[in-house]
Order: sequence, then structure tokens, then C-alpha cells
Amino acid sequence: MEKTEEKINTSKGTVLVTGGAGYIGSHTCVQLLEQGYHIVVVDNFVNSSPVSLERVTQITGQTFPWYRVDLRNRTQLAEVFEKHKIDWVIHFAALKAVGESVAKPLNYYENNLNATLSLLMVMQAHHCNKIVFSSSATVYGNPETLPLTEDCALRTTNPYGATKLMIEDMLHDICHADKDFTAVILRYFNPVGAHPSGLIGENPQGIPNNLTPYIAQVLTGKLPYLQVFGNDYDTPDGTGVRDYIHVCDLAQGHLQAIAKVQKSGVHTFNLGTGHGYSVLDVLHAFERAAGRKIPYQIKPRRAGDIAACYADPQRAAQELDWHAQYDLDAMARDLWRFYTQNPHGYDA
Ligand code: NAD
Ligand code: UFG
Repeated sequence: MEKTEEKINTSKGTVLVTGGAGYIGSHTCVQLLEQGYHIVVVDNFVNSSPVSLERVTQITGQTFPWYRVDLRNRTQLAEVFEKHKIDWVIHFAALKAVGESVAKPLNYYENNLNATLSLLMVMQAHHCNKIVFSSSATVYGNPETLPLTEDCALRTTNPYGATKLMIEDMLHDICHADKDFTAVILRYFNPVGAHPSGLIGENPQGIPNNLTPYIAQVLTGKLPYLQVFGNDYDTPDGTGVRDYIHVCDLAQGHLQAIAKVQKSGVHTFNLGTGHGYSVLDVLHAFERAAGRKIPYQIKPRRAGDIAACYADPQRAAQELDWHAQYDLDAMARDLWRFYTQNPHGYDA
């Protein structure tokens, strides 16, 4: 009993992590626990597995409460808030595949918007007024100028991105109506990599859409070769350029937000490294990580893709004291370690 009290007193507060079993959520849970926060996780596991939460405990040596709750179920969510006094919410829970959102837009609007509305209403009812929200560089659409600052035009081109923009608008409206409300909007660029332990990482189901899990599946022999979508862009080697960011750097951005943002209102930050890497740069980094060549074929451009996208991360550097630490080789090495240690993902 005394020990429990001591633990509560030394905690920096309790953070509710929605979607905490997912890729970015699980890495953020590790860092929250390691840096002295208590956490509570809610997830409906629609795109994740409770195994990732067991792995979070394995890495940190700490247990924590988690609930199989769909955020849209307001009654069950309210029970979590009644059980735990929540200081901050980090809201990861969402569906996130751009292509699927084009094919099934209503699923994306229904899940992402209703989950967030439900969460915000339950937070309001329980006087919890601090949230960090996972937005995306997709809200910038096709950039007119690079690097992208937070003040660039917002004009996404797909339903997934539209849900992110609508939620950003909701947060602005709440902060306008309630002067005590704090919303931190983090616009992630391209998260890749895995925890250096190789215990947690991205666990995509089926054939991946994104570049790095696709490369990993070519390396494991599940897919025959990488299709490089276009080599005629106006970029140094003609292939698409993106700002890849290690998932552990991204996770740390959330901790910096909680620690540094003191004032109420909306605070928006890009989380990217500020460096653009081409598809072939990424391919070569994985070749170095795995120690062998990766077969690839040049294919036509993928519909909806842009030539280049990378962040200006100055605002996060200045206001959050956040700086990306990992380079592209570390991203490839850590992702490859996760795949070699977990060839079937979280399925035994
Ligand atoms: P993920 O799919 O691994 O994690 C999302 C988690 O939310 C999953 O565990 C899923 O089961 C859960 N979830 C979804 N709907 C839910 C609901 N209604 N109730 C409860 N839980 C629900 O995705 P991720 O890559 O970790 O992404 C986290 C957040 O970051 C998402 O909001 C995503 O849109 C955003 N984001 C991701 C990327 C990326 O490339 N990974 C880029 C930009 C932004
Ligand atoms: N690419 C290939 N072959 C593949 C997959 C991708 O050549 O098999 C290329 C793409 O054409 C692009 C680059 O690799 O040039 C990156 O593509 P991803 O699909 O990995 O990532 P995107 O930049 O298209 O989109 C990702 C997320 C979005 C998010 C966006 C910005 O999927 O959710 O980053 O954060 F919005």
C-alpha cells in the first residue's frame, strides 16, 4: 500500500492513450512509462493486437490498465474516465489507410469522426481538457512550396485526410468555446522503424500499401520485388521523396508536447526530420540493414501520389525542444530487426 502511494506521488500524471495497442501508440506507451507517467490504454484492436501491450510491459517492466473499448461506445468509455483520473489524452485511435478511405469513405468518416466526438464529449463530461491529436502531413495535399510549415495551405485529397482536417477544426472550435481547453495537433510525416528491442513495430495485415513494410516483405520473401511507383518525378533520382521519421522520435514528440505546452488553446506542430529521402534512398538503406540486394522494378506513378513532401520542423524544435535523433539507416535497421524477430507479426 505504501509503495503504491509512493508510485502515485512520483508520477508526472496519468495519460489515456487511445489506440495505444497500435504502431505509434505502443511506442509512445513505452516512452510514457519509461519517463514516469502512468498510462491507461483503450483500443478496440480493429487494427492491432493485445500482444503489443504485453510487449510494452516486457520492454518497460511495468504493468498498466488497458480496456478493450470502442471509442464510439460512450458508456464504456465513460466507465474508464470514472475509474481513472485522466490528466492528458493522446488520441491515436483511427483508421489510417488512404487507399481504403477512397474505396470506403463512409467507414472512415463513421469511425474516425464518431470516435473523436464520443471521446471529446466524455472528456468534457469528466472535466478533462487536454488532448494531443494525431494528424497527418496528408492535410497539406500537394505542396506548393517545400519545406512545409504549419501555416501552409490545407487541402487534402482523400477521405482519410478529410477526417483529420475535420477533427482539427473540431479542436479549434472547442478551444474557442472553452478557454481552458488545450489541444496539441501533431502532423506526422512518414513514420517508419520500430523499437530498438525488436519487440514492437508495425504489424500490417495483408499486402502493405506503404513503402517500408512492403520492402520488408520483399526481404522476407513474402513478395517477389518492390514496385517503384514512378522514376520520372522532378526529384534528384526521379523517384518520390518523403520525410521518413523514426517512430521513437515521433513518440518522443508526444512527451515533449505534454511537458512543454502550458497555455490553453490550439498548438499545431509538424513532426518530421526536415530531410527528404527518395524511394531508392530507402531501398538502399534496407539493403545496408539486411546485407543484400533488394529486387525492384520501375512501375507507373501511383494515382494520387505527389513528387515530394518534407517538413519544416522548426516550430517543434523551438517550442517543444523536440529534435529527431535517428537517421534513415537506424530506421531501416530497427524495422528489419522487428521483421526478423517477428516474421509473422504478433501472431505466434
Ligand atoms: P494503427 O492502426 O497501428 O493504430 C491505431 C489504433 O487505433 C489501432 O490499435 C486500432 O485498433 C485502434 N482503433 C481504431 N479505431 C478505433 C475505435 N473506434 N475505438 C478504439 N480503438 C480504435 O495506426 P498508427 O500508425 O499507430 O497511427 C496512429 C495515428 O496516427 C492514427 O490516428 C493515424 O491516422 C495517425 N497517422 C499515422 C501515420 C502512419 O503512417 N502510420 C501517418 C500520419 C498519421
Ligand atoms: N512507394 C513505392 N512502392 C510501394 C509503396 C510506396 O514506390 O510499394 C512510394 C510512393 O510512391 C511514395 C513513397 O514510396 O513515393 C512513400 O509512399 P507511402 O505509401 O509509404 O507513403 P505516402 O507518403 O504515400 O503516405 C504516408 C501515409 C499517409 C500519410 C502520409 C503523410 O500512408 O497516411 O504518409 O504522413 F498521410
